Amino acid sequence: MVKVGLLGGSGVVGQTYQTLIENHPNFDLVFLPDREEIKNVDQATGCELIFSALPSAVAQEVDPLYAEAGFPVFSSASCHRMERDIPLIIPEINAHHFEWIFKQQERRGWKGFIVAKPNCTLQGMILPLFPLHERFGLQGISVTYLQARSGAGRGFTLEDNILPYIEGEEEKSVRETRKILGDEALAISVQSFRVPVPHGHVASVSAQFKKKPTLAEVRELWEAFAPIHYLEEENRPQPALDLQEGMQIAVGRLRSCPLMDIRFVSLSHNLVRGAAGGGILTADYWRKYVRAPASV
Ligand SMILES: NC(=O)c1ccc[n+]([C@@H]2O[C@H](COP(=O)([O-])OP(=O)(O)OC[C@H]3O[C@@H](n4cnc5c(N)ncnc54)[C@H](OP(=O)(O)O)[C@@H]3O)[C@@H](O)[C@H]2O)c1
Repeated sequence: MVKVGLLGGSGVVGQTYQTLIENHPNFDLVFLPDREEIKNVDQATGCELIFSALPSAVAQEVDPLYAEAGFPVFSSASCHRMERDIPLIIPEINAHHFEWIFKQQERRGWKGFIVAKPNCTLQGMILPLFPLHERFGLQGISVTYLQARSGAGRGFTLEDNILPYIEGEEEKSVRETRKILGDEALAISVQSFRVPVPHGHVASVSAQFKKKPTLAEVRELWEAFAPIHYLEEENRPQPALDLQEGMQIAVGRLRSCPLMDIRFVSLSHNLVRGAAGGGILTADYWRKYVRAPASV
């Protein structure tokens, strides 16, 4: 078993990490510091890697302490995501960016490193679009996100209402999508809403491609791409019915778009695929295929 540590374990994301690690075949949680002990890096001795679920302002100071001390840190915080030498990873899309770790260590003089997890919203849009992008070349994306309450962290309440603005989310979704796909010029229009749903972000997506795909070709590519689960029913996906174990992206309502080429609706679990589950998948991928490529 791989011994791991978790920073920010009492938060919404941290608690999801705890549940997922408890049920994980390879990881054993041995270091769970509280707020007062968070900078006691020495106490993490014996951990092979650290998950960080700290708020951005805290992670900015604390995550580098662990990286400097030699730990691989897989962080959910937004503060690291746009640093040029910090990989922003969704393993199914851009695992080749792990190679930036070496540049990072050289530049910062760290024995360990930081790998960032993208914003919880964009997985529902970028994962279905990725296999289409590889075949047809994305030209533009228009997306509206309906984001669940738990995306705002502990203590956030919202009933019988919709908030038409979430500070920083639209900008983050654009910047991070471009960094992951390696295309700084990609045209993306984003609107983000907070809705009174406990968990699960819905994305309403329209996309345009350099080469036009047929709907049958889109479905064929999704069939072959493991994270996507397509639902035939017209009234799906729904957060109350379709979150499943949280790592799949439930997709439905694929149609032609009168303005762009295609449109569809997707659903992803913000705390699992969008945070803790994505962090664990990323660390597991790094452990199996990057750190020890010869053993695979
Ligand atoms: N919620 C989501 O869907 C989601 C998705 C992706 C990424 N994220 C990111 O993940 C991180 C955690 O989000 P969250 O929603 O889980 O937040 P949260 O529920 O507010 O939890 C924050 C955690 O950080 C700890 N903490 C806060 N201030 C601290 C300090 N000064 N020193 C040490 N520990 C401190 C808290 O400990 P105490 O118990 O002591 O307060 C708690 O464990 C954030 O960076 C967020 O942007 C969240």
